[in-house]
Amino acid sequence: MSEKRLRALRRRLAEEKLDAFLVASSPNRAYLSGFTGTSGVLVLTATESLLLTDFRYLEQAKAQAPLFTVVQVGHDSMAALAETVARLAPERTGFESRSVSVSILRQWEERFGERTTLVPTEGLLEELRLVKDEEEVALLRQAARLADAGFEFLLDFLRPGRTEREVSLELEFFLRRQGADGAGFDFIVASGPRGALPHGVASGRTINRGELVTVDWGCFVGGYTSDITRTVAVGEPPERWREIYEVVRRAQEVGVAAVRPGRTGAEVDSEARAVIAQAGFGEAFGHGLGHGVGREVHEEPRLRETATTVLRPGMVVTVEPGIYLPREGGVRIEDMVLVTEDGGERLTSARRDLVIL
Ligand code: GLY
Ligand code: MN
Ligand code: MN
Repeated sequence: MSEKRLRALRRRLAEEKLDAFLVASSPNRAYLSGFTGTSGVLVLTATESLLLTDFRYLEQAKAQAPLFTVVQVGHDSMAALAETVARLAPERTGFESRSVSVSILRQWEERFGERTTLVPTEGLLEELRLVKDEEEVALLRQAARLADAGFEFLLDFLRPGRTEREVSLELEFFLRRQGADGAGFDFIVASGPRGALPHGVASGRTINRGELVTVDWGCFVGGYTSDITRTVAVGEPPERWREIYEVVRRAQEVGVAAVRPGRTGAEVDSEARAVIAQAGFGEAFGHGLGHGVGREVHEEPRLRETATTVLRPGMVVTVEPGIYLPREGGVRIEDMVLVTEDGGERLTSARRDLVIL
């Protein structure tokens, strides 16, 4: 894990006048320390980097987080944290307001709230995670390459008579056998009229000839996930749906071409959205154009009407326009795009023309 991430966080802590910082959310914990166990708290000060965890994770923590001093907690993990805070004696202790529950905060206040001022912070680490470093981009590339291989698998496997759930299961099995650590999320397999559900997780529905099927999948590699969507036709689709497919494909091209440093998420969203609106389907594209992707499938920055974040080289976003017609069906095409010095580079690159199986 890079010392650069720790240095960057410490700079932010100094700016916020925080003497200590507690990191309890798992993506942020893993981002800073490398530790992927499900239980543990990082305690950071200007000079100390501690990882408090229990017996189950001691060896793993030492191996994965070489920049941290691992501290074993007993059955009362809260007591160990309170002791640590007492020893470090910070005046102001920051914590992640997005991921600390009211219940945990109450316990912290009870156990050590008198010894330090607990200061809620908003997205400090999420801001650092916006721009991916080389190691992160390499992992995202690997995850994207596996996702692309998944499309080849799908083209082989998809046919009338298969259920959506079979498709989802076999795709996951394929990806894991190719070396993925796991599915990035519950895969969406939405066939026929279910295509109108943007997040139609695979059901027991059987795919019929002549239907479009939207599949949205991704997989984890080294803690980073890919996220891709393709819509394919199983047998000849009606002419109207070929036209709709072309509109979405054009909108996606325009969206990807609009990704470059200096643009806001809102600007990229609006360029792609205009293509769909001009074709008369504005109402049928009811979600944002895309989102950041990394340790979490949905993270900052967003590409949507209200997104003010300015794109910078090293950010990775999805571009995923769609058209959804209730009770009829839908089309979505999604790729991951790396913001480069002068534009954007697709990390997923499976073919995007309408495949008719
Ligand atoms: N896989 C969920 C999404 O594309 O946002
Ligand atoms: Mn997706
Ligand atoms: Mn997505």
